[in-house]
Amino acid sequence: MEHAAEAIELSKLAGGIPAAVFPLGLPVLLIRLGAEVFALENRCAHLGCPLAGGRLDGYLLQCPCHDWRFDIRDGRFIDAPELAVKTYAAEIKDGKVFVRIPL
Ligand code: FES
Repeated sequence: MEHAAEAIELSKLAGGIPAAVFPLGLPVLLIRLGAEVFALENRCAHLGCPLAGGRLDGYLLQCPCHDWRFDIRDGRFIDAPELAVKTYAAEIKDGKVFVRIPL
């Protein structure tokens, strides 16, 4: 079961700039690229640093702490795809971004 939790107004989500939000109290990072919004856990799979503030290069997000890079489409660590950060489905409705949180 999932809950579509409201995360932010789309107008407040600038393109290409990761934004930390807390739908249902969870640390989630939203990234808007063109018409798409990606949502992933805002906690690195290495030592747990917040990924907000990381450098974005296309679909790759580099952790600000030790430079691990993750594909924002599926959360995979590009040097060892068996490691990943959690991702969530995000959707835009009525000018707002909703994140599907498993319950
Ligand atoms: S905590 Fe992210 S690379 Fe180490």
